[in-house]
Amino acid sequence: MPSKYNKQTVKDVPVEGRRVFVRVDFNVPLTPAGEVADRTRLTAAAPTIKYLAEHGAKVILASHFGRPKGKVVESMRLAPVAKVLPEVLGGAGGGAGGSAAAGKSGGHDGGHGRGHDHPVTYVRDCVGPEVEAAAAALKPGEILLLDNLRFYPGEEANDPAFAKQLAALADLYVNDAFGAAHRAHASTTGMASFLPAVAGFLMEQEVRSLGKLLEAPARPFVAILGGAKVSDKIGVIENLLGLVDRLLIGGGMANTFLAAQGHDLKKSLVEQDKLDEARRLLAAARGRLQLPVDVVAAAEAKAGAQTKVVPPDGVPDGWTALDVGPRTADAFAQAVAGAGTVFWNGPLGLFEIEPFDRGSTAVAKAIASSKAFSVVGGGDSIAALEKSGVAGSISHISTGGGASLEFLEGRELPGVACLADRGGAAQ
Ligand code: 3PG
Repeated sequence: MPSKYNKQTVKDVPVEGRRVFVRVDFNVPLTPAGEVADRTRLTAAAPTIKYLAEHGAKVILASHFGRPKGKVVESMRLAPVAKVLPEVLGGAGGGAGGSAAAGKSGGHDGGHGRGHDHPVTYVRDCVGPEVEAAAAALKPGEILLLDNLRFYPGEEANDPAFAKQLAALADLYVNDAFGAAHRAHASTTGMASFLPAVAGFLMEQEVRSLGKLLEAPARPFVAILGGAKVSDKIGVIENLLGLVDRLLIGGGMANTFLAAQGHDLKKSLVEQDKLDEARRLLAAARGRLQLPVDVVAAAEAKAGAQTKVVPPDGVPDGWTALDVGPRTADAFAQAVAGAGTVFWNGPLGLFEIEPFDRGSTAVAKAIASSKAFSVVGGGDSIAALEKSGVAGSISHISTGGGASLEFLEGRELPGVACLADRGGAAQ
């Protein structure tokens, strides 16, 4: 494995007694009531946090949350995360009604979620005197959660002064935020100029699994891309065409390719300004790009709507293609069944609404029952896996939607590039 995908981790450096700044991606969805709706990213970061705490590090956790654009937005505080984190880390105190709620404004002792093993102190800022005092007061094994890094414009601007201020809190920098590794921000890359920088276990696993797709995929390598728009995925399609044996395309983005081939999809979503691009990609694919041979069309995008399975140019007037049809789902499932490696990003239909989830469900099940090394990325595809009850059978589920796509575009992610390579200088 080249050093590019073989980073030093927390296991390669001394951590005991050191203040360790861990950049995590706790950008999680909330329920309308403001509770954490999906703990996947918290659970995924837990091994690094627990390892550090259990090896006597003084752990400082920091994340962005939403896009507050450089100012404090009350609804974008990390308080809901502070509330459940002790429970995720294995303690008892952070669940509903737990004691780790948002603290007093500006107070570093405001949220104290007492778990059995891993209490978490939440401070409602990420820099400044109170944060500095809280970081300085940490004892080995203790965990401090800072507030949203994006409350400061210096974060997204990758301002060296802001990066230095964050770095001054700690002796070691750990990046475990793969989901934000495609951002060149102060906390995802800037801090590495001021502190020794290594990967957390999640980052290590993400980079290794996705790196395998780029470097030595078992053949045949089948990629499945879905989602609404081809415009979001041109870079990744181009790069994947240089790597895969077959590229299966479904979802709204397939409509643009079908339209580029001359099919009239009536009211279906088609990106008219991307037809030339789609023709170019079809030509570059030289037959390896596989499009739907049938679609599920409906008069309305709602549950229980009247539907018809039709060929791509058979969508009735005023109707919309909202899922791949059963023949396409079978063909995609067969391609997956014979694959050595599978990558999937993006649902094949409007999977949130039944019955337009059938194509995505069929592919999710096919991936789960194949022997292929399988990687799935992107929130909607992961939701489709979970809805089908097969998430446990996937080799690697990426916590990074945009990050995994940029990785597979062949770009070097700034949040990965800044970390020490294994075999490089000791930290
Ligand atoms: C994500 O949710 O994809 C990551 O947390 C990155 O968030 P961003 O797109 O706001 O940078």
